[in-house]
Amino acid sequence: MTAGEESMFTKSLYRILMKNGIGNYKTCKTLIKHEQVKVNQLIMTNCNYKVQKDDIIEVNGHIINSHPYIYIMMNKPKGYICSNVDEKYPSVLNLIDRDDCYCVGRLDQDTTGLLIITNDQSFSKRLLLPQNKVYKYYKVETLKPIDHTLTNIFKQGVIIDQNYRCSSSVLTIIDDYHCIVKINEGKYHQIKKMFMSCHNQVASLKRIQFHHLSLDPLLKMGEYRLLTDEEMEKLL
Ligand code: URA
Repeated sequence: MTAGEESMFTKSLYRILMKNGIGNYKTCKTLIKHEQVKVNQLIMTNCNYKVQKDDIIEVNGHIINSHPYIYIMMNKPKGYICSNVDEKYPSVLNLIDRDDCYCVGRLDQDTTGLLIITNDQSFSKRLLLPQNKVYKYYKVETLKPIDHTLTNIFKQGVIIDQNYRCSSSVLTIIDDYHCIVKINEGKYHQIKKMFMSCHNQVASLKRIQFHHLSLDPLLKMGEYRLLTDEEMEKLL
């Protein structure tokens, strides 16, 4: 990528200033226009300059964090919730040593596997927008043997919540009690409800892939790490 080039993860200069807590939209743009901001020791007056990996940014002579956004992959353990508050279960956010992050979508307390955690709201929004139809893959263990007709029923769209027809999904049988389900929605308890509708029940659920990003098999439950540049590309 050349200087000034944009991707989902390259941010405008004024946004980097805002994320550093320097001020609101207007204050940050004014600072830049009034020549108070340097990029790599040169005054930069373009508020929309796309900050590059090795850029050093100074505001009024003070170096700020040029990469304040973080993107984490976690192997979510059982017994944790993805939101902030619940009296019964602790939050996965307690497992990381930051207080400005949230989960991209939610997994049930008893679901394990791939969870993306970030402090980048626009990134999170983009991945969750229903019209973007981002696929998620789950490994499912069932209580009863999986009926082979389910492949077709899932393809047609399973009815849940009395009258909601889920969008077409892909069920790939591994053996009698295990399959992979690929869905592009994120309704509350969706996979569990889909199996209930088909007279079966989920015994355990693990998310193994989000869009083109797979869970790192080396991450033990509860472990997390930053996404690599290559992995971030897989979320574009
Ligand atoms: N579907 C569910 O039922 N639970 C999850 O955690 C994710 C998808």
